[in-house]
Amino acid sequence: MNEVRAMTQTERQKTYLKDYTAPTFQIPSTHLAFDFRSENGNDFCRVTSTLKLQRRPGTEGDLWLDGEELVLEDIKLNGAALAASAYVREDKGLKLLNPPSEFTLQTTVKLEPKKNTALEGLYGSGAVALTQCEPQGFRRITYYLDRPDVMSSFEVTIEADKATMPVLLSNGDCVERKDLGGGRHFTKWVDPFKKPCYLFALVAGPLAVLKDTYTTGSGKKVALEIYTNEANIPRCGFAMESLKRAMKWDEERFGLEYDLSTYMIVSTDDFNAGAMENKGLNIFNSRLVLADPKSATDYNYHMIEAVVGHEYFHNWTGNRVTLRDWFHLSLKEGLTVFRDQEFSMDMVSRDLVRIDSVIDLRESQFAEDDGPNAHPIRPESCYAVDNFFTSTIYEKGSEVIRMMQTMVGRPGFRQGMDLYFKRHDGQAVIIEDFAAAISDANKQDWSQFKRWYSQAGTPRVKVTENFQGDTYTLTLEQSCPSTPGQTEKLPFHIPLIVGLVTRDGKDLELTHPSLKKNTEGKTLIHLMEPKQTFEFKGLKEKPLLSLNREFSAPIVLEWNPPVEELFALYKMDNDAFNRFEAGQKLQQLEIAKFIDAAKSKSTAALDPRLIEAQIAILNDARLDNALKKKMVERPSLASLAQSLPGFDSAAWKTGIDAFRRAQGQALATVARDIYTKLHGKSDGVLTPEARGERALKNWALGQLCNAGEGHALAEKQFRETSMMVDQEIAFALLMEAPEAKAREIASNFYDQWNSDSLVMNKWWSLQAQTEAPWTFARVQELLKHPAFNMKNPNSVYALLGRFSDNLIEFHAKGGETYRFFAQELKKIDALNPQVAARLSGAFDFCPRVSPALQAEAKKALDGLLADKLSPNAFEILSNARKALGA
Ligand code: TRP
Ligand code: ZN
Repeated sequence: MNEVRAMTQTERQKTYLKDYTAPTFQIPSTHLAFDFRSENGNDFCRVTSTLKLQRRPGTEGDLWLDGEELVLEDIKLNGAALAASAYVREDKGLKLLNPPSEFTLQTTVKLEPKKNTALEGLYGSGAVALTQCEPQGFRRITYYLDRPDVMSSFEVTIEADKATMPVLLSNGDCVERKDLGGGRHFTKWVDPFKKPCYLFALVAGPLAVLKDTYTTGSGKKVALEIYTNEANIPRCGFAMESLKRAMKWDEERFGLEYDLSTYMIVSTDDFNAGAMENKGLNIFNSRLVLADPKSATDYNYHMIEAVVGHEYFHNWTGNRVTLRDWFHLSLKEGLTVFRDQEFSMDMVSRDLVRIDSVIDLRESQFAEDDGPNAHPIRPESCYAVDNFFTSTIYEKGSEVIRMMQTMVGRPGFRQGMDLYFKRHDGQAVIIEDFAAAISDANKQDWSQFKRWYSQAGTPRVKVTENFQGDTYTLTLEQSCPSTPGQTEKLPFHIPLIVGLVTRDGKDLELTHPSLKKNTEGKTLIHLMEPKQTFEFKGLKEKPLLSLNREFSAPIVLEWNPPVEELFALYKMDNDAFNRFEAGQKLQQLEIAKFIDAAKSKSTAALDPRLIEAQIAILNDARLDNALKKKMVERPSLASLAQSLPGFDSAAWKTGIDAFRRAQGQALATVARDIYTKLHGKSDGVLTPEARGERALKNWALGQLCNAGEGHALAEKQFRETSMMVDQEIAFALLMEAPEAKAREIASNFYDQWNSDSLVMNKWWSLQAQTEAPWTFARVQELLKHPAFNMKNPNSVYALLGRFSDNLIEFHAKGGETYRFFAQELKKIDALNPQVAARLSGAFDFCPRVSPALQAEAKKALDGLLADKLSPNAFEILSNARKALGA
């Protein structure tokens, strides 16, 4: 079914944004009849589609319909069998030769969902049949104009055995349900809203349901339903509560109400991505629905709320207003990520969630923007549309929306959103339409700002400060590194929230002719030129610069102030993000010192001021526990790799370990205190406060392990806790114990959890993430474990994905890891190209490793590229290969 045809480089087709043309036909109505059958132990589904097609006036010629991997059994035009001479069938679709300008087309195809390992189109997950159509899976269900600017009214009927498929769902309202006799039954669904086919969904199988209701602000009662297997129903409560919070929040913040009478969520273990916003029938990866405190971490809970919100918010930003074409994917994804981040900020803590979003952005998107697969948030070309679902399109896209909100303020942004829906409800539009709505509503000129959409790469802003007499001079210079296909960049319009802080921690009232406050009282610098200078007069002493507060623009600040100033900001900046940032910079400088020492085989000593500052933060009454933890957290390896040059696995490992030991020993007393005070205090409680307590407590446990005294405590916690958040962290810490102990813990965890596939994902991940000399061997061993399933994306991401993120072990000397990974990638690509493409990003990091390792990476990539690969994996891997040179 998913046979990947060998393709030569020249045969591969690139698609370009500039070649966009409107469709020559529209499909006013789509009727789909699904008939699930089982004959001689062979399961299949027959799909009969009846389409009304209408030519756009003034066009002529043939009609191309997309269709892949379909077995065509019947085709009729206006009710009569279509002559073989009237159409041409090809690999990727079907061409109707000169069809009339208005007609009905009926096709019948036969599908075998159980054999579909790509998890696009109609596929099987255990006894359940379900669909994933975004972006181009619908063409694997029936012949169609599979493009988002073709919007149609859908009517769907489903027929199946009652015993094996008791639940039959599709989009919209269920208008008919009947028994057909002979053990068969039937449902009919009508979606009152026109939609592009990527939002189509169908689910059929044995499922249990959790039901609830929500009453909208205008008094409409909505039925809420979450479907999963019977045993997991008790784990759906948090997702249900999250959904209700999201519905309420969207009404309050954006005046947007739900528009159907039912909202359904289906949870599945087999899913390529996180979740999918199909109209009225979301399909979710089970890790983003199911949770109880015993098996899910606080992070899992957080993600469930965020993603339930995300998919719900798509109902307006994505579904009611959809895309003209996939190059504009960020129109819905950037905006919807922005909306889910704002939702989480309001539900949890604005500062905490903002800091976490920035950490995530820098670790994934900045790395992407700096690597061989960098692309603008509105790309101009691609081999595989599937590859557009990147952190650039999502997370950087969201940052661009956030900058808009920062510039016009929240009330202005709301007015812009209102105008956007007023203008475009029911339409398929482009990014410019959104920018125009916000800027028109606020009478702003964003012609320069819109370069954020077309230029890839993370802008750098270099800061120079000068203080003389009573005048503080701030000079900002912007630049942007070249990215593949874009060597020269034009200046960006960069909105930077700025504060000048006195030595006793007060924000100065800034009076400067070219600085304005936004409607929320925040002072903004609009950096638009390559270089701009700002003077502030009448100051008694040099102020502390707090620039890009809240991370108002997604840039790299090139700024190296004296460390005393960073310490002062770390202790007292009024902007939580910049306090965190000062702490990150300070720790980074220390870690760099330890890495340098490791390189020269010498030793380094920790700056006592860092410990003093961290203790001050831990005692700061202005901060809650979650923020305290965030502010003292060590920068991750991925974020260090952003700011320190090169990468040398051995020296980094030695240096970071030495830093951790020194820091742990210096903080041990405080850490013991925190642990004793907080451990067990809020077991079973899921409020943001309780999560914050656990985060800080587990940070303390980590410090004790760093100090060399925590493993016994970690093991006690591992064995006795009733909460996964505590068990998981203890597991991770114990993986750094000597190998025999680590193995004992891993096998204990396995014995406890092997029947729970969601928790098993943690088991794969935690071992693959471990930085230990035995990790690679262990990963190879786990790959052969009977519980490991190469066809299940979650377990592949958990084991192989997390191993390839493990910079220390994946990019260790030798290159065997690259060869191993390439070999596994090839197997995965043959099963599931979308999953293979996501894993392929692992090679993006290779330009940073030693020349000897780069040579190994080249060999591994050449081997892969010489073979048959899906366009998805080919696109990512060939870019990675190009970046390594001849
Ligand atoms: N639109 C989905 C979201 O962001 C993304 C998605 C779901 C997806 N399933 C996919 C993307 C499969 C690519 C392939 O909410
Ligand atoms: Zn989305």
